[in-house]
Order: sequence, then structure tokens, then C-alpha cells
Amino acid sequence: MTNNLTWHDHAVTPEQRQQLKGHGSALLWFTGLSGSGKSTLANALERRLIAMEVHSFLLDGDNVRLGLNRDLGFADADREENIRRIGEVGKLFVSAGTLCLSAFISPFRADRQRVREALPAGKFIEVFVDAPLAVCEQRDPKGLYQKARAGEIADFTGIDSDYEAPNEAEIHLRTDRLDTEAAVDKMVAYLTQRGILP
Ligand code: PPS
Repeated sequence: MTNNLTWHDHAVTPEQRQQLKGHGSALLWFTGLSGSGKSTLANALERRLIAMEVHSFLLDGDNVRLGLNRDLGFADADREENIRRIGEVGKLFVSAGTLCLSAFISPFRADRQRVREALPAGKFIEVFVDAPLAVCEQRDPKGLYQKARAGEIADFTGIDSDYEAPNEAEIHLRTDRLDTEAAVDKMVAYLTQRGILP
């Protein structure tokens, strides 16, 4: 389907866009079980970034599935396509010079790896939002674990669909041990040390 197509470089480069913004760009990829705290942490980080006058954009699970990816369900192949499209959108934001945050379960290592490889070296930063399944199930903010246990939702991650934890995430946050502000501090420290934040 990509026959007869040619990639065109634009007159303005990603580096020029980034320079204008005064900070680095990257795709911060939050991955974790439902209820692990991905959205909470990504929202808290984005609030902090805006206060620091950093240009950011948050791509978030349910919202993207209500729009761009409304044709996709939760079978393995649909999740793979979900992550592929989000990776492409993330790549555009990075190219625009933005600090893009994406918060999706993204349960499969191979799918996350493909996004990593699609971005320039060092631009994909994996954030493992880690809480034991029992903790996520106890939090159950949307009542979805209860429905999954009752057989009302099929292919629910952690129950009857796999979650493959990252082996080498750049940032590992245990949300059952760390409060939100401490987790944000850790992410900001990482981004500063990498020179992405001034
Ligand atoms: S994935 O696996 O990355 O494609 O999933 P994602 O796009 O992040 O969507 C996860 C949100 O969809 C809701 N939901 C489900 N999650 C997991 N499994 C099943 N079967 C399912 N059905 C609906 C749920 O609200 C997830 O949001 P979070 O914020 O993770 O709880």
C-alpha cells in the first residue's frame, strides 16, 4: 500500500521547531495495567510542564479510542493497531518540537518496541507505571475489573488478556509506594538530567 509514495523532508526541520520552543522534544510512553495510575501521572506531569512553560500534549487511552481509534476493540490485533497509530501521532508531536505524553495500557512488548524504533534514538522514553494487579483491581476506578471477573467484559488486561511488563523502562514508578508528586519529581529529574527540560 506504500508503493509509488516518496517521503518528503520539509523546509523547516524538527530541530528548528524544537529550538524555537526552548526545550527538547520526546515521546514519554506511559504503560501499565488499567488502574495502575497512567492517566493520573500523565495529567500531573503535564500540569507541571505547563507551569514550567514547556509545550506538551497528552494522548490518553479512552479519549483516543473515542475518536481516532473508535473503530478498534480489544483483541490483540486491534491493540497492536491502536498502538501503531498512537506511535505515529506521537512521532508527529515529537517532530513538532513538543513533549508528548501517551497513556495507554500498551500491553505488548513488541508493539512498544516498534514505536521506540520508529522514533529517533533517545526520543522514546518508556515509563512503567507499576502497581500489582491486586492493587489495581482493588482500586477499580471504573468498575471494569468487577465486570471482567463477572464475565461481562472479555479480553480484559490482567484477567484474560496478557500484560507484558517492560524489561528496561527508562523510568519505573511503583504507584503503590510513591505518591503522585514524588512520581512527577522523579520524571522531571530524569528529563532534566537528559537535557530535555532546561
Ligand atoms: S490498549 O491495550 O493499549 O490498546 O488499551 P488502551 O487504548 O489504553 O485502552 C484501555 C482503556 O480501555 C478501557 N477498556 C479496557 N481495558 C483493557 N481491556 C479491556 N478489555 C478493556 N475494555 C475497555 C479501560 O477504561 C482502559 O483504560 P485505563 O485508563 O487503562 O483503565
